[in-house]
Amino acid sequence: MNIKKVQDVDVHGKKVIVRVDFNISIDDDNHVKSTYKIAAAKHTIDLLVDGGASHIALLTHLGRPDGKIDKKYSLEKIVDDVSAVLGRDVEFVSDCIGDNVSDAVSGFAQGKIILLENVRFHDGEKKDKKTFAAQLCAPFDVYVNDAFAVCHRVHASVHAITTCIPSFAGLWIQKELDQLHQVKTQPVQPAVAIIGGAKIDTKIPMIEEFQKKYETVLVGGRIAVEARDQKMQFDDNVILPVDFEYKYYDIGPHTIEKYCAIIAKAKTIVWNGPVGMIEEKKYTKGTFSLIEAIAKNTDAFSLIGGGESVQMVEESGLMDKISFVSTGGGAMLAYLGSEDLPGINVLMMTDDK
Ligand code: 3PG
Repeated sequence: MNIKKVQDVDVHGKKVIVRVDFNISIDDDNHVKSTYKIAAAKHTIDLLVDGGASHIALLTHLGRPDGKIDKKYSLEKIVDDVSAVLGRDVEFVSDCIGDNVSDAVSGFAQGKIILLENVRFHDGEKKDKKTFAAQLCAPFDVYVNDAFAVCHRVHASVHAITTCIPSFAGLWIQKELDQLHQVKTQPVQPAVAIIGGAKIDTKIPMIEEFQKKYETVLVGGRIAVEARDQKMQFDDNVILPVDFEYKYYDIGPHTIEKYCAIIAKAKTIVWNGPVGMIEEKKYTKGTFSLIEAIAKNTDAFSLIGGGESVQMVEESGLMDKISFVSTGGGAMLAYLGSEDLPGINVLMMTDDK
């Protein structure tokens, strides 16, 4: 893939803004529940530091605050975790545009890293506004996108910003594309997609895509309940739960058995989204059972993605049994389900577009 790569640009003495995806669940003590997304960004940040970048700013969203300031979604909460995982000093800046950022950039010592406040506190982000993108990159020379998980969004910090300053793909995005390419173009059959979670707007179109390419699509979580209640119609290879536990908060034993038997015979397995309401331990049985079945099938190429799914695999202790763990949930599904990702398209070399 002819993408503009961060390792091909000389960043020596340059001010670099890096779009990362630190959209991670946070526990009651304000610690991130999974460090996987932060660790994924470390490779690019180390490369920039080693390459002599004079300033590095990390830009991300957290949650869906909808263009308004909402302290519940402030990045300040996770700055210590980010610092610990990156193994570097990271300072929080209370906005992502304006004087706060310019002052922080001119004021901080070489090698120091700043974490900017939630980009979704600004209305211009979701609207992909060019004027907002220009404000974001004003203090910087180079933009690097290493946030694979948000590349399916046409948002200013992913899309419009690339029209403002030279823009490159980070190391993690390149790794994701390498790993996902094979599964996208030639999934070895029988291929099984397991789609759960609660983001109905993102997931329903994905079920419709996967039913065309994959032998079976197993559905769980909130979207399964919604699909059933709304009597949504899918092809025959889309399977909905046959029973539930605790009202509809987890899939039931017959569904677990049925889904695990299908997983055991698969040669390609793609999973995104828990099949129960995993915020409470008692509703996690279905999800953990599917993870165990995926881990057991060592003949298959297994691909798992999405914040909560990754968190559950980490908790199960079976990370090393999965062929590749993607940081993308919706983005992974969108990419595999045949869409070109807008955030990737804008990083392609011009001749390749
Ligand atoms: C994710 O966690 O999947 C990404 O950060 C995208 O989040 P979004 O669905 O709120 O855009």
